Amino acid sequence: MTASGPVDGAAAVGSAPASVEPAASVEPAAAAGSVDDPTTTSSTTSGTTTTGSTTSGPDLNRWRGIAADPEADRTAAETGTVQGIARLRSRSRVLLGSLIRPHRRLIGVAVVLLLLQNAAGMAGPYLVMLGIDRAIAPLRAGNAGPLVAVATAFGLAAVAEYAGKRGFLTLSTRIGQAILLDLRRRVYDHFLRLSVSFHERYTSGRLVARLTSDMDSIAELVDGGIDDLVLAVLSIVSVAGVLLWLDPPLAVVTLLAFPFLLWLSRWFARASASAYRRTRETVALVIVHFVESLGGIRAVQAFRREPRNQQIFTAVNDDHRRANLRAFRLIATYSPAIKVIGNVTIAAVLAYGGMRVLGGHVEIGVLAAFLLYLRRFFEPMQELSQFYNALQSATAALEKLAGVLDERPGVPEPTRPRPLPAGPVRGAVDLTAVSFGYRTDTPVLPELTLSIPAGQTVALVGATGAGKSTVAKLVARFYDPTRGTVTLDGIDLRDVADAELRRAVVMVTQENHLFAGSVADNIRFGRPGADDADVVAAADAIGAHDFIAALPAGYATDVHRRGGRLSAGQRQLVAFARAFLADPAVLILDEATSSLDIPSERLVQRALRTILADRTAIVIAHRLSTVEIADRVLVLDGGRVVEDGPPELLVTRDGRYAALHRQWQDSLLH
Ligand SMILES: Nc1ncnc2c1ncn2[C@@H]1O[C@H](COP(=O)(O)OP(=O)(O)OP(=O)(O)O)[C@@H](O)[C@H]1O
Ligand SMILES: [Mg+2]
Repeated sequence: MTASGPVDGAAAVGSAPASVEPAASVEPAAAAGSVDDPTTTSSTTSGTTTTGSTTSGPDLNRWRGIAADPEADRTAAETGTVQGIARLRSRSRVLLGSLIRPHRRLIGVAVVLLLLQNAAGMAGPYLVMLGIDRAIAPLRAGNAGPLVAVATAFGLAAVAEYAGKRGFLTLSTRIGQAILLDLRRRVYDHFLRLSVSFHERYTSGRLVARLTSDMDSIAELVDGGIDDLVLAVLSIVSVAGVLLWLDPPLAVVTLLAFPFLLWLSRWFARASASAYRRTRETVALVIVHFVESLGGIRAVQAFRREPRNQQIFTAVNDDHRRANLRAFRLIATYSPAIKVIGNVTIAAVLAYGGMRVLGGHVEIGVLAAFLLYLRRFFEPMQELSQFYNALQSATAALEKLAGVLDERPGVPEPTRPRPLPAGPVRGAVDLTAVSFGYRTDTPVLPELTLSIPAGQTVALVGATGAGKSTVAKLVARFYDPTRGTVTLDGIDLRDVADAELRRAVVMVTQENHLFAGSVADNIRFGRPGADDADVVAAADAIGAHDFIAALPAGYATDVHRRGGRLSAGQRQLVAFARAFLADPAVLILDEATSSLDIPSERLVQRALRTILADRTAIVIAHRLSTVEIADRVLVLDGGRVVEDGPPELLVTRDGRYAALHRQWQDSLLH
């Protein structure tokens, strides 16, 4: 159903839609961001030598031949306007809230378990202090009671910590997986619901990036990061509190490390934010390039584009590698630096604490506890750097997913649908003062009024780009008109429930996607409840039975991916049978017989006379032989009807149709 853009070469003709799509949505590659970076070009040159290509210094700013996607990885920070950022942030907050809400109670329990784990962990150094200061002296006096008590408490704390951690991990994994499941389901459902217009715009590479790398970043945080992150923050805060309570002067020495820590952390947060965003952008480009160029593999191979695609991929891939290196270099600086600060602090505390012990201001156990607590203070801080990155990428991913989830279908399902008039749908189609354009600046249909009575077969003819398919897409409601109305049996299509509309109006195009599976299943796609006899009858009616019966396993033959096992003409026949089985009141055939040979087309045409007898049909075809069965021909030019009448009458007139007809007949002779 995608718009057939400029067809990218003979080899791509009639291949699956994906191979046509890249050409349709091409943007100059410069938009892809990474290519602006002068370093990219130099790295690409070296990449070129390794891939063995002969061209030197490829200009990657030229057209890439894949759907370059400037918005492949846009996050709140890059959308520019302050309102834009605020909107995205609030959207992702709303999304997060709605994901978490069903698990509120379990999250509460998880928090309690986390607090338990933290408290039990915090008890350790304190018990060591008690052991040294309070239990050793009684032991000298022969009283082992206090030491046994302390040791028992230590053991209990260890068990509590174990239980808390285990319970928390089990629970948080369960919550995390439930959230991920929910999110994945929502995104998929939403993508299915979004209109064709969205999918013509949003490249498949981006779709894949949303469901893979974005989902992965959130999973990474949910699975491993979030508990450690919370625990780290919790333990840093509680340790700081305990230190102050144990011995304020010693705590002040520790606090001297704070300015350094703060400065270092701020530097890291800022540098890693941009570095990490870059890694997300580059990984999205890798995915987009991968999906888009392999989606068009036939055209790529037919035109020997492999070396160039390889170059581009090498460049994108290398960008990603360098972005990752940069991000990890930051970690490599930050994490050991924290450790150094930690160790220096420990040294200072040891020296100053030793003096305080000597001076009798604190007991030795307090110093020991202090040193143990400091460990619990600096260790999580080192790890925070990694969680910070995970948090950042998850936030960015969530923003992007929230953005997608916020897309409204271009043709929304009516909230209060109006039923079509009772009884079988008759299929009268009316376009009243319809204006439409895919972009606001270029109208495709300036103002079209057209009435097709129920049961009529109308042929739309006209030059390439005249707007024939556009009319078809409006009647099938893949788009809504900008102004004016399209009605079916007097009801505005915007008010008809989706299910009813799709039952009443079916469009067959030349792309006719077949899914991997048997021929019978592919035909049954038109009406899932149909039994085998119906399927055979439908195939027979349009003249496809003979070729299907001759397949190795007849109707059970697997057509393979995208119907790759069948010829283009055979795929059309199967798509035809599918549409016939669906038995719609309005059947739209957009170049649906373009791949058939003349005998098959004749066969289909003969079948069409009976098939179309009691239904409304819009037939679009460049081969005028197809048009002969029509009751009426409409010649379209620049989105306007310039001629209208029965074909046999128009042929005799000296108008556009007669001219088209003459040209067509000439073409048959030469
Ligand atoms: N998805 C789209 N986005 C933007 N413009 C489009 C899109 N689809 C079609 N157009 C433009 O709308 C105009 C009419 O296209 P349409 O597909 O209706 O032509 P057509 O009469 O069916 O031509 P053909 O005989 O080649 O199939 C063309 O100028 C085309 O460039
Ligand atoms: Mg068309």
